[in-house]
Formats: sequence, C-alpha cells, structure tokens
Amino acid sequence: MQETILVTGGAGYIGSHTAIALAERGHRVVIVDNLANSSRRAVERIGELARAEVDFHEVDLVDNEALGEVFGQHAISSVIHFAGLKAVGESVAEPLGYYRTNLISTINLLEQMEANHVWDLVFSSSATVYGDPDLLPIPEDAKLQPTNPYGRTKLMIEDICRDVAAADDRWRISLLRYFNPVGAHPSGRIGEDPRGIPNNLVPYVMQVAVGRRDQVQVYGDDWNTADGTGVRDYIHVVDLAMGHLAALDHLEPGCDVFNLGTGTGASVFEIIKTTENVSGRPIPFEVIGRRDGDIATSLADPSKANRNLEWRADRSLDVMLADSWNWQSKHPNGFADDDPGAPTDAPAPDPDGGGASPMPTS
Ligand code: NAD
Ligand code: WQD
Repeated sequence: MQETILVTGGAGYIGSHTAIALAERGHRVVIVDNLANSSRRAVERIGELARAEVDFHEVDLVDNEALGEVFGQHAISSVIHFAGLKAVGESVAEPLGYYRTNLISTINLLEQMEANHVWDLVFSSSATVYGDPDLLPIPEDAKLQPTNPYGRTKLMIEDICRDVAAADDRWRISLLRYFNPVGAHPSGRIGEDPRGIPNNLVPYVMQVAVGRRDQVQVYGDDWNTADGTGVRDYIHVVDLAMGHLAALDHLEPGCDVFNLGTGTGASVFEIIKTTENVSGRPIPFEVIGRRDGDIATSLADPSKANRNLEWRADRSLDVMLADSWNWQSKHPNGFADDDPGAPTDAPAPDPDGGGASPMPTS
C-alpha cells in the first residue's frame, strides 16, 4: 500500500539512498532538508533514479512553524529522521550548535508528529553511543558511553524517544545504530559528498584516488589490531537503506534499538589496498599519530536486526569500495560536477547501469 513517508535530511548521504529505496517500493516520499550539508541536485537525482515524484521542502527543522506547514500539506504516515549535524570533531569545537540543532529539531519533529497523530518513527542513531566498547562485537545492551558532544546528542535523542514511547503506547519507534556507512548507489549518480576536507576515511581515500588529495594520513599503526591500524565495521549505504525499510515494516508499539552493521571488520590498510584494487589507482599514504578520541576496533553484533527485522547486510567490502569509486570517478568534485549520467531527451537511464551492485527492488 502506498504510504507517505517523511524523510528528514533526505537530501543527505544516507537519506537520499533511503529515499530512492522507499520510492522504488511505491511509497510517496516527502523530503525536508535545509541543505546545510547537501545539494538540491541530490533531490533531483532521487526522482530521476527512482522514476518517481519526490516532494521537497527546504526547511530547517529548528523552524517549528515551517515544519508544521509541511505536516499540514501531506498525509504523512511515518517518519525517518536523518536530519542533524554529524561531525565528531566539529561537535567538540561547537557543542552548543550540536545540542541546539540535533535536540531542538528532534523535539520539534516529535511534537509535530504527536499533533498530527503520526506515531511511526525510525531514527538515525550511531555506534558512537558505545564510545570505546568493553565488548566486541558490540551488542545493543552494551554500556552506552559516548565520548563527544555529537555522540551525546544521539544518546539524548534515544532517551527522549524511549521516554516518549513509555508515556504513550501509540508510539512505534525504531532506533538504528549505524556503524560505518560507505559506498554509493550502483548508478554512480549519487554518493557521499562531504563539504571541505573529509573527516571520514573512505571519502578521503576516494579523493586521493581521483587526484583531489595527495595522500592518506593514517592515524596510527600501533593499535592493538592485526596490522596495527584501526578496524571498523563498514556497511554499504544501500544495505543500510534497506535496513530502514525493514525497520518500517517491523515497527512495534514502544521503542526498540538495532545495530546496523555487517559484523565484519576491515582495517585502514585493508581499505587502502582494496581501493587500489577496485580503482586501479595508487593510494599514497603516510602514517602519523593517532587522532584524538579514536578507538582501536568497532564491530557490530547485528544478530538482533538479522532476526527481528529479517534484514542482513550482504554487500562485500569490494562492492562497497567499487561503488564508492564509481561515484567518485564520475563526480571528482561531488554534486558540484555536471552529471555524466544526466538524462537527456533519451529515455531515463537504467538506475542499475554502471554500478557493481544492483539496487534492490524488493
Ligand atoms: P548528511 O550530513 O549527508 O545528511 C544529513 C542531512 O540533514 C543533510 O542533508 C543536512 O543538510 C540535513 N540537515 C542537517 N541539519 C538540519 C536541520 N536542522 N534541518 C533540516 N535538515 C538538516 O549525513 P548522513 O551521513 O547522511 O547521516 C544521516 C544521519 O545518520 C545523521 O543523523 C547522522 O548523525 C547519522 N549517522 C551517520 C553516520 C555516517 O557515518 N554517515 C554514522 C552513524 C549515524
Ligand atoms: C575510520 C578509521 C580512523 C580518516 C566516524 C564517527 C562516527 C560515525 C562514523 C556519525 C579510524 C582512520 C580516518 C583518515 C585515518 N559518524 N582514519 N585517516 O571514526 O570510525 O566513525 O564516522 O555517526 O560517529 O566517529 O570513522 O572514517 O573517521 O575512521 O586513518 O583520514 O580510519 O582512525 O580507524 P570513525 P572514520
């Protein structure tokens, strides 16, 4: 049945990939995004790739009145909440901006949902709520000990959702703790497009591969890991998108939480080596000191999501990095570049063309 799904932050990296999957399943997608960290071009490509109309509202969720007008214009049945600021280092430098944006936008959203009798919510949480884990792989009932303002906003929002659901049993909320999303839509026409110098490893490596940056700085090779570099649980952004559809399908009264990861780790050196293999480009690097706040290993126990959501991440690291490279090589400067795959008067491009992993249609 076609439902109208509000996707906050839907012009962003994970939101745009999820919006395509929702539209391909036949849902009506309404995107609210203030374009603070994304491009209107991403919204245009969502519609082209999904061959569907997408409603877009350039709205800041901190503006409660503007958000209320969006609810007044659409018969929204459920919400996926991606919108927010997400850079750890920036949150340390500007904590008030992070608390204000991430918390107030979420409280506004929950109040508008309640006022409009919309009770179904999927929220983008993060493995960063675990901090430096005591246990590996990390289960959902591990100790929650975020070590930075960004991670603390995620945990605060989780607690707000738990309290809201405990107060009114009409709420059905799923909190999804993502590990390390990478990769891009198989068409190579949307992907991760960080502003300025990428904080994260994979977009930085891809910018070195495409010639935008000289070399990768490896933050330490003296960690307690197999090759001494940091190990993370990388998950393909398309697998992550499908995890949101699964969460929507399995919403239950109350508030539940799920790890979305693969359960398999990869080191910095493995990312560099695999990117050289899939791109055919050399990736020069220099080992420097550890980054403040970094941890040796982060690895999901995804068994609860596998079981309860009937969902599993199945795209390999090779496919993740081949799809990242496909996007980056076609768009060396991200969305600022003209789109080589842009539709002309020829028939709409095949969304599965060119990538290494077909976009699921189920
Ligand atoms: P992103 O920055 O690409 O997307 C977030 C979107 O939200 C952007 O389009 C931005 O313009 C928009 N936005 C920000 N503040 C807003 C506001 N006040 N009002 C309206 N729109 C606003 O980030 P992403 O990587 O797609 O992450 C999406 C969500 O997933 C975020 O909540 C992030 O914290 C979470 N998350 C991301 C990662 C990751 O590594 N990418 C990992 C775990 C969790
Ligand atoms: C991965 C590995 C680095 C960059 C972050 C946030 C987390 C979440 C996901 C939002 C680590 C190493 C990195 C570089 C390097 N975001 N590295 N050189 O730190 O696991 O998680 O993104 O929720 O909150 O903390 O991801 O990609 O930054 O780092 O050596 O230029 O690569 O030390 O071992 P991280 P990352």
